[in-house]
This record gives sequence, C-alpha cells and structure tokens, in this order.
Amino acid sequence: MAPNSWKSKVIMNVLSYLDYKTGKVIIVGSKRVGSLYRVIQLSIIGYLVGYVFLSKKSYQTKEESIQSAVMTKLKGVAVTNTSESGWMVWGPVDYVIPPQGEAVFFIVTNFIETPNQKLGNCAESPNVPDGHCKGDEDCAEGELVVAGHGVRTGRCMRDNGKSNGTCEIYSWCPVERRCQSQDRHKHTNMLREAENFTIYIKNVIRFPKFSFSKANIQDTADKFHLKKCRYDEALEPYCPIFRLGDIVNQTGHSFQDMALMGGLIGILIRWECDLDRDPSECQPRYNFTRTDINVSRESSGFNFRHARYYETESGESYRTQFKVYGIRINIMVHGKAGKFCIIPTFIHIGSGLACIGGGAWFCDWILLYLMKNREFYKDWKFENVKNSTTEDIQQTPEEQQPTDLLPEV
Ligand SMILES: *[C@@H]1O[C@H](CO)[C@@H](O)[C@H](O)[C@H]1NC(C)=O
Repeated sequence: MAPNSWKSKVIMNVLSYLDYKTGKVIIVGSKRVGSLYRVIQLSIIGYLVGYVFLSKKSYQTKEESIQSAVMTKLKGVAVTNTSESGWMVWGPVDYVIPPQGEAVFFIVTNFIETPNQKLGNCAESPNVPDGHCKGDEDCAEGELVVAGHGVRTGRCMRDNGKSNGTCEIYSWCPVERRCQSQDRHKHTNMLREAENFTIYIKNVIRFPKFSFSKANIQDTADKFHLKKCRYDEALEPYCPIFRLGDIVNQTGHSFQDMALMGGLIGILIRWECDLDRDPSECQPRYNFTRTDINVSRESSGFNFRHARYYETESGESYRTQFKVYGIRINIMVHGKAGKFCIIPTFIHIGSGLACIGGGAWFCDWILLYLMKNREFYKDWKFENVKNSTTEDIQQTPEEQQPTDLLPEV
C-alpha cells in the first residue's frame, strides 16, 4: 500500500472522531407496551417529585447533629403540715435537687421525715432481716448489719415476753420508721401544690454546618406575655413555661399517683428546621413521656434519701433525714436541619433518570420475549453482524447499509 493512502486513512479515522453519533430509534406501534412505558415513566417521575423531593426534601443537604444548651428554673410554693415538724414551706430551694437549673433535675412531691437523729444506740428497724435476733449471741459486738443502719453493740432488744427482737445498733438514732405499703399510700405529707409548679425551660440550639442558632423563646414575644403564658399543645405550643401537672397529664398518668410514689419523665424537644424558609418557622416541638413505667406497680416510682445537718448550742450535731419521693425530669434535645444544595439535587435527579432507563429496559424485555409477534420485533431490533460480508466491513461508515433488513432500492 502506498504511504499516501495509509496517511489519509489515519486522517479519516481522526476526523471520524469529530462526527457526532446518535442512536437510531425504532418506533413500535404497540399501544400496550407504549402505555406501560408511559405509566412506568409517570410513576417514577411522580415518585421523584412527590416523595423524594417534596416529602423527603432530598434536594437539601442535612445536618443531624445539634448543639444544645438547656437551662431550667422552677417557681411555686407548697405548704405541708407534718406530725414531726409541723408547718413547713417548700420553695424551689427546698424542692428542686440539684438547684442549679440543669437539664436533669428532681422535684420533691412527697416525703418521709425522720427528725432529730443523733449518733447513739437504738434498736435496728424490724424491716431489716439481718437485724433480727433471739438472744444477745445473735448480735456480736462490732459487726455491721447487712443492708441495715449501723454497728451491733452486742445486745438483743426484745419487748417483754417476745422471743424475737432486733439487735441494738450504734447509728443515727432513731432509725427511719419504714412504712408498710398501705402506709405509703397516705397523702399526708404530699406537696399538693406541686401540681401548679411551673418549669421554665430555656433551650438554645445551633446547627454548626449552617451556622444557624435559635432559642425556644420567640423573638417577638413581649416580656409580659412570656411571664404569663403556659404551654398548651394546641393554644400555646411555643410557650417555654410548663405546668408540672400538665406535663404529667401529657404522659397519660395521674398526677396523684406519680406525686405519691415518684417517677421519671422525659421531655423531648425536637427541632426540625427547613432553613430554605424563614427562620421564624423553625420552632421546637415538645413531647412528654414517662420513662419508669413498669408492669409491676411496686418497682415503678423514684425516691432517695438525703439529710439536713444541724448543731445544738453545745456543739452536738444532729440531722433530719428525708426520704423524698418525686418526679425526676430529663430534658433531651434532638433536631435536624436541611438546606438546598446542588449536589444532592443532581444525585437524586440522576438516579431518577436511571430508573426511567430501567423502565425502558423492562418494556424492551416484554416486547422481545413476551409479546406474540416478538420474532418480528427482534428482527427489527437486532442487526445480525455475522451476515455481513467482508466487503461491508471494509466500506467506509457512510456507505455501510444494513443490507439484511432494508430492501434494496
Ligand atoms: C392550682 O391553681 C389553680 C388556679 O390558680 C387553683 O384553683 C388550684 O386550687 C391550684 N391547685 C392546687 C393543688 O393548689
């Protein structure tokens, strides 16, 4: 071959790269496959627009991690009258533990008081099994009472004529009188007014990805309204002041029961913000659940003991022990935010278009393998290259003809 024609072949090959090539379309007059294809196409577009974009907002980039700060403050006063210490006034200082305004705190609603405990000798409580004795030999001096209140002194204290007693112990005396379960249901020491205590919750959040901050207090709300309002799911859903009784009712439990035996309540603050909209539409939703519910009534509830210490004028210390029942509140903050972003938009449009391509593949499959005259469609769809002669291959692309399908003109 002449080098000249070799060169021109290379040039022609290079030039053919610059030709634009497009696929040939075969129109099939089958209305059944055609409408099936349209249905597939429409449902994929509907899914893409309706679910992926409008409902799931997939055109947004999302932020699921939320930075949050919570501050609480309680208000309200309760008055109790006990046989041990008479009238007592309970302010937030007395009934909120710990008092520094945290996201987890405890509100005293009921208590058992053991006043004037001094270090000394007294009988162990009969409710402690390890403290029972029949004689002094059961009360070895210096031994601790398992799950009891103090150290044995070596004496067994028995009431006249009884064979069973309890060991004498060195402890904070007198020991707490443990209530029998019917006693526990006495309402005498309850802080009834606790139902009307108010909890002010201040919550500031931030979505670091979008540098967006917000608080659960409306910017527009005047100070006076903020002092007065009470949260109500329907009427005042954005008021940050909650009545304790309302919170308990929202969990579906009775305040009386819960105040008596105590319990745990979770307050969930949920922020779901669409930052393509006005920031004022980014508002929290509050949700209340009781988290200590148990099948058995005996094991639900919440209580603990603490003491207040005093000194007499002579310098001797004594204490008042409180076993307090109450409601422990745990405030949890969750949230996510989304904002328009071009990359997820393209990714979702791209995957939607790929699905439409899948629909075309499915219709092709029906056409070529399931339809009655599939052989006819196959002949049109596939050109059989094996039938072509060697001359055909050597022809330039412009001259090439599908000789086996098109009739000779
Ligand atoms: C709570 O407040 C309301 C209205 O101020 C009052 O009628 C009610 O008696 C109070 N409840 C208790 C238990 O004090």
